[in-house]
Amino acid sequence: MNTDKLHVKVSRSGTSGGLVGYQVPRYESQTVLDVVTFIQRQMQPDLAYRFACRVGMCGSCAMNVNGKARWTCRTHVSKVAINNELEIAPLSNLPVIKDLVTDMSTFFDKWSRAKGRFAGDHTRHEDFAPVRPDSAQRKEADAGIECIGCGVCYSSCDVVTWRPEYLGPAALNRAWTLVNDERDVQKIERLRAVAGDAGCHSCHTQGTCTERCPKHLSPTAGIAGLKRMTMKAAREGDL
Ligand code: SF4
Ligand code: SF4
Ligand code: FES
Repeated sequence: MNTDKLHVKVSRSGTSGGLVGYQVPRYESQTVLDVVTFIQRQMQPDLAYRFACRVGMCGSCAMNVNGKARWTCRTHVSKVAINNELEIAPLSNLPVIKDLVTDMSTFFDKWSRAKGRFAGDHTRHEDFAPVRPDSAQRKEADAGIECIGCGVCYSSCDVVTWRPEYLGPAALNRAWTLVNDERDVQKIERLRAVAGDAGCHSCHTQGTCTERCPKHLSPTAGIAGLKRMTMKAAREGDL
């Protein structure tokens, strides 16, 4: 096998086997997104894929690489190629629009269902709300706040696969950051939104989302926190 070349199979819509093979030159520090971009620019101009920032900030470039969801702009080929081979497919658990591009609507609709939007009650005429950086709640919110909405966790969650209505790790992680935000005024509504049958209690806590999250967040820990908080609120008659 020629080791100057990477042997890449890419998922293509409308082909009988689903995968099309390409040989791509290797070079140092090459990322998986570099490989996809090379194929699109030099070999297959109608290949559909998505990226924006290329520096791990926008969350748009996630794909399945050799069977695992990853952010492709920060994934080096040398870390993931097996015998100089790569298989690149769209994220799982989401409908495919074309080739490597998935429709993220369901993913973000679930953020909305989990009330993943900050709701404050201050106007612009009031002072900034002071939040102590060392308060326990602030630390809980901080631990989950750097989510870039890449969908890697969602694509890796087998409960989403089995129960497509399950809110999933990213939406629940977002809800967890907000129920710990002292300035937010919709805590009980949010707990109600995540306490239902397709909410936090469906999580089996095995942690694939946490293992794969490229930002090293722990949706599993946030979901466990939501389980405790919803149980407490139910005991106290708030739900
Ligand atoms: S720990 Fe929960 S949210 Fe994370 S992958 Fe497993 S079931 Fe999904
Ligand atoms: S929790 Fe992690 S894996 Fe999930 S969407 Fe946010 S950054 Fe991506
Ligand atoms: S292109 Fe923005 S995170 Fe990869």
